Amino acid sequence: MSNVVTLERLETVGIIKIDSPPVNALSTAVRKGILECTKQAIADPQIKAIVLTCAGRTFIAGADITEFGKPAQEPGLDKVLQEIENSPKPVVAAIHGTALGGGLEVALACHYRVAVKDAKLGLPEVKLGLLPGAGGTQRLPRAVGPELAVKMIVGGDPINADAALQAGLIEEIVDGPAAGAQIFANKVLAENRPLRKLRDDDSKLAAARADRSIFTNAVAALTKRARGLEAPFAAADAISYTLDLPFDEGLRKEHETFLQLLAGEQSIAQRYAFFAEREAAKLAGVPAGTKPRTIERVAIIGGGTMGGGIAMSFVNAGIPVTLIETGEEQLTRGLGVMRKNYDASAARGGIPADAPAKRMALVNGVVGIENVKDTDLIIEAVFETMTIKKSIFGLIDTYAKPGAVLATNTSFLDINEIAEVTKRPQDVLGMHFFSPANVMKLCEIVRADKTAPDVLSTAVAVARKIAKIPVVVGVCDGFVGNRMLMARTKQAEKLLFEGALPQQVDAVITKFGLPMGPFAMGDLAGLDIGWRSRKDRGIKSEIEDALCEAGRFGQKTGQGYYKYEGGSRAPLPDPDVEKLIDATLLRLGRKRRVVTDEEILERVTYSMINEGARILEEGIAARPSDIDIVWLYGYGWPIYRGGPMHYADQVGLRHVADRLSYYAAETNDPSLEPAPALKRLAQQGGTFAGSR
Ligand code: 3HC
Ligand code: NAI
Repeated sequence: MSNVVTLERLETVGIIKIDSPPVNALSTAVRKGILECTKQAIADPQIKAIVLTCAGRTFIAGADITEFGKPAQEPGLDKVLQEIENSPKPVVAAIHGTALGGGLEVALACHYRVAVKDAKLGLPEVKLGLLPGAGGTQRLPRAVGPELAVKMIVGGDPINADAALQAGLIEEIVDGPAAGAQIFANKVLAENRPLRKLRDDDSKLAAARADRSIFTNAVAALTKRARGLEAPFAAADAISYTLDLPFDEGLRKEHETFLQLLAGEQSIAQRYAFFAEREAAKLAGVPAGTKPRTIERVAIIGGGTMGGGIAMSFVNAGIPVTLIETGEEQLTRGLGVMRKNYDASAARGGIPADAPAKRMALVNGVVGIENVKDTDLIIEAVFETMTIKKSIFGLIDTYAKPGAVLATNTSFLDINEIAEVTKRPQDVLGMHFFSPANVMKLCEIVRADKTAPDVLSTAVAVARKIAKIPVVVGVCDGFVGNRMLMARTKQAEKLLFEGALPQQVDAVITKFGLPMGPFAMGDLAGLDIGWRSRKDRGIKSEIEDALCEAGRFGQKTGQGYYKYEGGSRAPLPDPDVEKLIDATLLRLGRKRRVVTDEEILERVTYSMINEGARILEEGIAARPSDIDIVWLYGYGWPIYRGGPMHYADQVGLRHVADRLSYYAAETNDPSLEPAPALKRLAQQGGTFAGSR
């Protein structure tokens, strides 16, 4: 018998226990073990009922994703599930932690399911670019009806035990999984209950079979946000087989689609992103066992756009915040924006009606930096000016308690310089959130020269606690994300000087899958900020300067690279902008040429990749996958393209380097010359992923 799955008999109940840390994924050994133990339990005359349970923190969390893409090993999961479902003795799944993907599919093949109160059950395969491949799309609709099944499979979010009980996905909520399941199994035996095989139960399909709109409406509601993704649509099709086809036919077609998606680029990218996210949490250069400091209360200095959003992120995780502003008026404004945001989410049903008041009660708004004194973590989010930040860090140093972690949310400034004004540079680092900070998941954790290892691990731990995805980066102009963004913006602007229009560039980028193009993004951020800073530094950007001189600052003035009508945020191409671009080019003696969409895409994305290669070479990011996480969660890079570095690997580094060299020569732009690291990998036929 395999040592990851064991069978034990407790009176008349056979307990099959899976013990395969960390998450009891369905590796070959686990599948084999379940199959063998189920056969043995069926063959053992003393066993009358079977309980399937897991050791450790969770029930089976799914197929073993590390086995995907490798040659399939016997037994397949379908064979294991058939054995369970066809068992003449009742099989009860005992669920705790998370029953996800293949894990829930195992449970669905059992005749009964019980779960502890805090268990979660779901089919999240779409998040990996897949659909459930072992009957989930056929059995779940039979268990809970097609409407909820669509929500769970096409949406991919799990439900809790209470919802599962209500929907008929589980029979009972129990105190302890194995003991509760054993009691339940005895009840089944005592009552001589018939085996409940979902495959044979079409009762919950009847309504949608009679009125197809029940199904199509549920699908429409969920797929409207699935732009560019293949899996949610394939999953919806597979669920529809329950309405049209016999079970076995549906099962066969589901598996066929699963294999197609598994081999597709989107799922490869999404699985890559799953592991990249977990890799990013592993800190290079921090000794194992480094203990994070305790963070119980946080101070945020500056209650503007970022400070307010950061405060909300902490409060949402139940961590009290001291919000510090310069005066009562600024404080009232900052707190007012937070309250308005909470009220809006409550009105949408996103949070309970009493949540806004409860959450705001966790915020203590005050004036004066001396109020940092009782806090364990201080995050500065004031104006992006070095002198102001330095004076604030001087004051923080005066008042903060020893051992407090001192963070700045600066976007570009040199954190080493900021740290040096304190007597404790080892406690200083960057925690760079992204706007809107209460929504965007990324937090760049910027390690300065003297940042202590435990300060770094504290920032990473606290970021995870507030549901952010932390990525450790080094100090440089713009860190990882904004530095690459600058490379992209430079190319986007140059394209305007050569003949492209803002709407053409943006359309190429949104078609590629990003939520917004560079010009719509500029309009959102406000063009005047860059204009003022250019004026201070004596730098010109002729087209953008001309827009600003015409009072076109972006969304805030209703006009920028686009026009915005009636207070709408939808960018509309503006013939006046085309005229302004023409006039600027005429003045500069330049002629517009036809710029193809291919050139736009290549110059805009390859310039970022090139900067990413420099970032890696300089050690600003530890891994190419960290750069990808920054772009996936900070800027909305489409998950199905895995991030810019993964995308480059897929396109081929030789091609990327060749095209960059070509554009460098064609447009007389040395910044487009392939970075040495990219050039080297391209010559070797290598990939970023393989270069570590
Ligand atoms: N296969 C292989 N490894 C897995 C895994 C899986 N399904 N799920 C998690 N792991 C690994 C992680 O990579 C991580 O490894 P590491 O420590 O070496 O980095 C470790 O388990 C712990 O994972 P987390 O850090 O994510 O732990 P959490 O406690 O935060 O979360 C979890 C646990 C909720 C189970 C989360 O890991 C998760 O969501 N896992 C993926 C679940 C999933 O997508 N299941 C469906 C798989 S596809 C499928 O089942 C196809 C089927 O239909 C045929
Ligand atoms: P903001 O102008 O909206 O807010 C700054 C706030 O700081 C104002 O409310 C101001 O009253 C307050 N403030 C100024 N001096 C102060 C002091 N001495 N004590 C207490 N409060 C003080 O600016 P925003 O956009 O929130 O930016 C803040 C920081 O975050 C900057 O460093 C910026 O670069 C960075 N950042 C901004 C992002 C964005 O998209 N807006 C994204 C990521 C980082």
